[in-house]
Amino acid sequence: MVPLADRHLELEIELDSDPEVLRYVSGRARTSDEVVASHARRMALARTVDGLGYWMAFASADGAGGAPPAAPEDEGEFVGLMMLPPAHGPDQPDDPSVTDLGYRLVRRHWRRGLASEASSALLRHAFDTVGQSRVIAQTMAANTRSRGVLEAVGMRYVRTYFPPVDDLLPQAELGEVEYEMTRAMWEAGTPAVAR
Ligand SMILES: CC(C)(COP(=O)(O)OP(=O)(O)OC[C@H]1O[C@@H](n2cnc3c(N)ncnc32)[C@H](O)[C@@H]1OP(=O)(O)O)[C@@H](O)C(=O)NCCC(=O)NCCS
Repeated sequence: MVPLADRHLELEIELDSDPEVLRYVSGRARTSDEVVASHARRMALARTVDGLGYWMAFASADGAGGAPPAAPEDEGEFVGLMMLPPAHGPDQPDDPSVTDLGYRLVRRHWRRGLASEASSALLRHAFDTVGQSRVIAQTMAANTRSRGVLEAVGMRYVRTYFPPVDDLLPQAELGEVEYEMTRAMWEAGTPAVAR
């Protein structure tokens, strides 16, 4: 994983051009202009708390991850965007010690354990390197794949809540779910998380 930078904008545009990837996020593909705006928001949010932010995930040709690339232009096969910004937004606490985990992978890399592997690495980073008190994650209740990742990395279900229904999103009436991992959970050790 490498920190998100302006050189990655084209990859973010590619990622958000697949409506299936954004099915439970915006319910449709995003235009380039929309991605340019979200890229700028991400870069700004990444500057607010040292160590938090966004990472682009790459795999080696055999898909096994591996050593960091020698040069930025040699980043390998693009897998997706991993997110670990400070909590923000209307349904999240205004507390810089709380972090919001998220992920979005290109479809050809789904179901290979990559989101779980990358999320485990970001949990370790949040607690052991940045020193966060809690990591939360929010997704649509209907987003089974995303919930599978959160459960696989040892996060626990906290609540279901109901933001205003967006007609573009499938099964929005089921609401959103929130999961968490607290520092105490992290320190107690979670077998699912590679330590
Ligand atoms: C959600 C997403 C990142 C999952 O990535 P992934 O790399 O396929 O996930 P993993 O392979 O790590 O799977 C994690 C767990 O979920 C389970 N899982 C994956 N897909 C599943 C599915 N369709 N149904 C049920 N469980 C599923 C896996 O079995 C695994 O659990 P296990 O470790 O107990 O076997 C990917 O589908 C994606 O990018 N979706 C679109 C973007 C999105 O919705 N992001 C979340 C928005 S909040």
